[in-house]
Amino acid sequence: MKVLIVGSGGREHALAWKASQSQTVTQIFVAPGNGGTKQEPKVTNVSIPSNNVDELAEFAMENNIDITIVGPEDPLVLGITDKFKSLGLNCFGPSMGAAQLEGSKEFMKDFLMRHNIPTAAFQSFTNAESAIAHIKSIGCPLVIKADGLAAGKGVTVALEEKEAIRAVQECLTDNIFGRAGKKLIVEEFLEGEEASFIVMTDGEVVVPFASSQDHKARDNNDLGPNTGGMGAYSPAPVVTEDIHNKIMNEVIIPTIKGMKNEGLNYCGFLYAGVMIDSKNNLKVLEFNCRLGDPETQPIMMRLNSDIANLCLEATTGALKEQSLEWKEETSLGVVMASGGYPGDYIIGKEILNLPIETKRIKVFHAGTSFKEGKTFTSGGRVLCVTALGTSATEAKEEAYKAVNCIKWENCFYRSDIGYRAVEREK
Ligand code: AMP
Ligand code: GLY
Repeated sequence: MKVLIVGSGGREHALAWKASQSQTVTQIFVAPGNGGTKQEPKVTNVSIPSNNVDELAEFAMENNIDITIVGPEDPLVLGITDKFKSLGLNCFGPSMGAAQLEGSKEFMKDFLMRHNIPTAAFQSFTNAESAIAHIKSIGCPLVIKADGLAAGKGVTVALEEKEAIRAVQECLTDNIFGRAGKKLIVEEFLEGEEASFIVMTDGEVVVPFASSQDHKARDNNDLGPNTGGMGAYSPAPVVTEDIHNKIMNEVIIPTIKGMKNEGLNYCGFLYAGVMIDSKNNLKVLEFNCRLGDPETQPIMMRLNSDIANLCLEATTGALKEQSLEWKEETSLGVVMASGGYPGDYIIGKEILNLPIETKRIKVFHAGTSFKEGKTFTSGGRVLCVTALGTSATEAKEEAYKAVNCIKWENCFYRSDIGYRAVEREK
């Protein structure tokens, strides 16, 4: 089987690494890939940007690709699956219509309301004055979210009115998110513990993945600005069997059924970010129409099942109800980033002291390039150093042992990834 993976991050490296372990996979292309995918067995990088849907389709046709797996949201929202399908190509990911669950916060929130799926109260606005009047009338804390895709930067958790007003002005008046910020939602602030819950589905059969948790804030103790994610681990102890069943019954199944009833069959990965409060009530924070990054890195490290084959089955209507095979252990990944991220940063720094990888430690690359035996930084999030351990405490220790050796000028990382799980083990 020949596989095409679309994207260039740590998630795509983890997918390529996992797919390469399959006996039935003969060749993997990653478009455009990174310095890590370039070094994996069976893997070739192809220099087509992940949102150039036409060129990707042409490549898949010419190279007889059996299954394309889409990493990031942009090509899905641009309709990559629709395009591939029209050419008779297998592409795992929701259609343009179904990807609206991530592509428009307003669509997502209205959908949740229509189907009685629990989520925070909200209101949408296109006019800054009305939004500000609303904020003044209900008071902070509040959450302001740009409607469209804003590369993980469109959400402001505002503890004070000043911050909320600034977020509204940046979005609606200064247009810092362009078209994605023509509309925004003002949402109730939720308290509790977050978890990432990912399934794969063909629109009928739903196969849940192991739970995970990521750390979206830049700094220790979940402080500082939001990022794409500074680390993640799996499983998330907050997702007990009870919570797992509750998320399936209250969120995942009603969503997939609801989409079908609205004529939007959902075939792909579905990621629900949920907030779980102290009474075990759930609310949906967000949907992603794809795998999470960095959650995929620890998840793939624990997965024993054949990911490429599962994606092919789901795309061709052959997905079966099943429990996937997982390593019992905890896996934890620490993101190492370029100084300045999620703001401006400098790239092109040589990365030194990369560890020797074993079955228990794997360095997934994101923003890297590999030239003449050397690895250089080429993005904000650079590496996700992922380790297995018999506990979260051990996985954390093992991951940080490697992280603390790796060096480049002006690199930074959080030192507390997995703290909630580690606290529980004390
Ligand atoms: P989102 O992209 O919608 O998941 O938002 C990014 C992050 O902002 C989430 O992972 C949460 O940490 C935080 N967040 C989003 N919505 C809320 C909310 N209603 N209450 C509290 N925190 C939120
Ligand atoms: N880690 C969160 C995301 O992928 O959106």
